[in-house]
Amino acid sequence: MTSDLSHPDASFGGLAALRPRLPSPLQELRDERFTRRGVRLLLKRDDLIHPELPGNKWRKLEPNLRAAARAGHRTLLTFGGAYSNHLRATAAAGRLLGFATVGVVRGEELADRPLNDSLARCAADGMRLRFVDRATYRRKAEPDVLAALVAEAGGRCFVVPEGGSNAAAARGCGELGRELSGVADVVGVACGTGGTLAGLAAGLAAGGRAIGFPVLKGGFLGGEVRRLQEEAFGGPRGDWSLDERFPCGGYARSTPALDAFADDFTARHGLPLERVYVAKALYGLTTLAEEGAFPRGSTVAAVVTGAA
Ligand SMILES: Cc1ncc(COP(=O)(O)O)c(C=O)c1O
Repeated sequence: MTSDLSHPDASFGGLAALRPRLPSPLQELRDERFTRRGVRLLLKRDDLIHPELPGNKWRKLEPNLRAAARAGHRTLLTFGGAYSNHLRATAAAGRLLGFATVGVVRGEELADRPLNDSLARCAADGMRLRFVDRATYRRKAEPDVLAALVAEAGGRCFVVPEGGSNAAAARGCGELGRELSGVADVVGVACGTGGTLAGLAAGLAAGGRAIGFPVLKGGFLGGEVRRLQEEAFGGPRGDWSLDERFPCGGYARSTPALDAFADDFTARHGLPLERVYVAKALYGLTTLAEEGAFPRGSTVAAVVTGAA
């Protein structure tokens, strides 16, 4: 990692000081649901990149932190729900790199309750939490709403969108695709806001394809991935598709079938799966393998985008 970061705070050590494990390790699994069909299964262990900025959090935040530091910002402002991995990672990055952080949290009612573990960690890392009602939260990208939040946070902030997905983040995730080029024929990844898939698909070499498994219902994700690719790369990139059969009840929900799959996967391979995203991607890929969707002789990689 280069050291072109300049930060007004002398205590700012730069991203290199965080020692990310990149490229992230590849782990081959022998799983008979794949091997029976002559298909290799690899795990792309992005969860091991950094203990506090695991998985796509590193890949998406790194270019944003770099841009914030380069522009001389001292405060990061971002958005998330009560259990947002992205809010936690941003708070940790702030503590590690010397940025003040402000988290705009969906749900005004949460202000009067004890903080859940996730928000308590954000607060312990120094994040200032600003709870807003759901209607305001939905309008957070509108200029007047955003300007009011920024003014309240001190007037000069580097704003990172919900889920950390913007053009810089998608470009950061391009590196994930490049690390997997020539290694896997098909790459599966769970999707929330679509930034990881947008970059992954763009970074894959010709011949590789990406499959996104949305964890939210609603069918909006294809448009979001196209929009992010347009902003990040100037147009559509790479061979990608969505398999929308595995939201398993929706965001942060589960079904008995998903729970059974994830428990069984852990029993087979000794690896606990992060349930909100990663378990759904592996459930989707395993179902596709059992449906015979991957040609004999092919290699499938599942991106472990977060830690259990
Ligand atoms: C562990 C994990 N995996 C996958 C995703 C989905 O990433 P994206 O929002 O870029 O689609 C997220 C959300 O950022 C996440 O926390």
